[in-house]
Amino acid sequence: MTNNSTSPQDQPWTILRLLTWSHHYLQEKGIPDPRLSSELLLAAVLGLDRLGLFLHYDQPLTAAELGAFKKKLIRRAGFEPVAYIVGQKEFWSLPFQVDSSVLIPRPETELLVEESLALIRADAGLRNLVELGTGSGAVIISLVKSLLPDGRQWGCLAAVDRSAPALKTAVANARRHGVDHFIRFIRGDWLAPFNRKRPWIQLLAANPPYLSAADLAGLDPGIRDFEPLEALDGGADGLDAVRVILAQARDHLVPGGWLLMEIGETQGSRVTDLARENGFDPVRILPDLAGKDRVLKARKP
Ligand SMILES: C[S@@+](CC[C@H](N)C(=O)[O-])C[C@H]1O[C@@H](n2cnc3c(N)ncnc32)[C@H](O)[C@@H]1O
Repeated sequence: MTNNSTSPQDQPWTILRLLTWSHHYLQEKGIPDPRLSSELLLAAVLGLDRLGLFLHYDQPLTAAELGAFKKKLIRRAGFEPVAYIVGQKEFWSLPFQVDSSVLIPRPETELLVEESLALIRADAGLRNLVELGTGSGAVIISLVKSLLPDGRQWGCLAAVDRSAPALKTAVANARRHGVDHFIRFIRGDWLAPFNRKRPWIQLLAANPPYLSAADLAGLDPGIRDFEPLEALDGGADGLDAVRVILAQARDHLVPGGWLLMEIGETQGSRVTDLARENGFDPVRILPDLAGKDRVLKARKP
């Protein structure tokens, strides 16, 4: 791949030609969604969106653009996720900076945001909210952005993560979205940074690591080799973090407080039992758009 007049057909590398070539290249390497990957990478290099690419199919690329695209394409051919290569992922219709220190936010996690918003909007007195395992900050930042017009007087809005690099990314995202002054980002082990003798948390939202050892062994290389293990590894049965969070949430929530927690699609009945053993009532498992068990919604009586 060199610029202009050196191809077999002596044709310049236009957007369309490059997309066709790179699509086949990634396909041969066994990369999932090769066309989409090519489009997203090229769009990032050219500072366009995908529609912009289609509108400029005949535009020839400069040598610098070709070089930048080639570097990204080689990374993708090694199975690195597109989001890490372009440094960004959309979640809740907002762009979030991502890097290898944070999990790439998944569309199914939007259910956690949706359910949190529903609980907050239904209770004008809800003022204290904590997110556990914030990673890129996508969940709490989406929540706060959606609630800004509400004009609510917040008591404490906090987001916890054990990973310092992840918190740095979360803070950068909060700044980018103009909500950093609303949220306290705290480094710690789940709820350990807070005093449990005087419960004050009204809503806890969490997307903890919940993959079992068997899940981890079967992961696609794009996840296994690139996303942070501490964001994925839930121990032998996948429920190590879930057990800790349920036990801590029981102590830290006010009576009537809510726990919303993302879970794996096969974990619904075991997590229901664990939540009941910890005294939560009612306990419900909510399905995602694909109909799979996805979020625990449990109340401390
Ligand atoms: C599945 S990721 C969720 C990231 C983000 N909230 C999202 O939904 O995209 C889990 C997060 O929990 C953090 N984590 C893992 N163990 C933790 C612990 N003991 N205390 C606090 N955070 C922890 C990881 O660093 C990671 O950022």
